[in-house]
Amino acid sequence: MEANRDRRVIAIAAMGEGRVLSDAETGIPWDLPRDRAFFRQQTQGEKLLLGRVTYDEMRGWFREGHLPCVVSRTPEELALADLHHLAARAVESAITALHERRSGPIFVCGGAAIYQAALPLCDELLLTRVEGQFNGDRFFPAWESEFQRVSQERFEADEENAYAMRMERWIRLGG
Ligand SMILES: NC(=O)c1ccc[n+]([C@@H]2O[C@H](COP(=O)([O-])OP(=O)(O)OC[C@H]3O[C@@H](n4cnc5c(N)ncnc54)[C@H](OP(=O)(O)O)[C@@H]3O)[C@@H](O)[C@H]2O)c1
Repeated sequence: MEANRDRRVIAIAAMGEGRVLSDAETGIPWDLPRDRAFFRQQTQGEKLLLGRVTYDEMRGWFREGHLPCVVSRTPEELALADLHHLAARAVESAITALHERRSGPIFVCGGAAIYQAALPLCDELLLTRVEGQFNGDRFFPAWESEFQRVSQERFEADEENAYAMRMERWIRLGG
């Protein structure tokens, strides 16, 4: 049981209504300290799986203990931000490489292309549902038919967080 838990693949994402993740030109259209803190806390010291675009955006963010694996169709051409970071040509091989390196769950951190490719391999989803409508061209894939929501917590907008949000946890049906 514990060994199984250690191999969980967990997607973590924040999205507005209509599953909007971001705009490729202008980035993530909200600034929510509560969600940033949640992301930091959940992923602290963990194994991370990221697409090349998101990895480049997050250069400088990684801390000691993080083990990121960046996915690219040309991983040999990547300049990794740290000697210890991993690169892979596909989501499947990234998951294998991360699990070989150490135990513990893998957090799939986006972006849109990687959520799409990794969704069939995910056991759990940690979703921040931002209660607002935003323009964007990057979307989280539809997941509801394959997962069931097991918890949610709602937070009203406040001085620091301009939008209300729901933190939801979903697990794979039959998983
Ligand atoms: N709201 C959120 O929670 C959240 C979270 C993360 C990111 N984002 C946003 O999402 C956007 C980035 O998403 P994105 O879809 O444009 O980029 P991405 O998923 O971060 O990275 C895309 C890159 O990953 C590689 N890739 C994608 N699919 C692959 C596959 N099946 N096999 C091998 N390599 C693959 C390719 O790299 P190469 O080009 O090197 O081949 C591709 O260009 C940004 O705007 C970011 O801010 C939002």
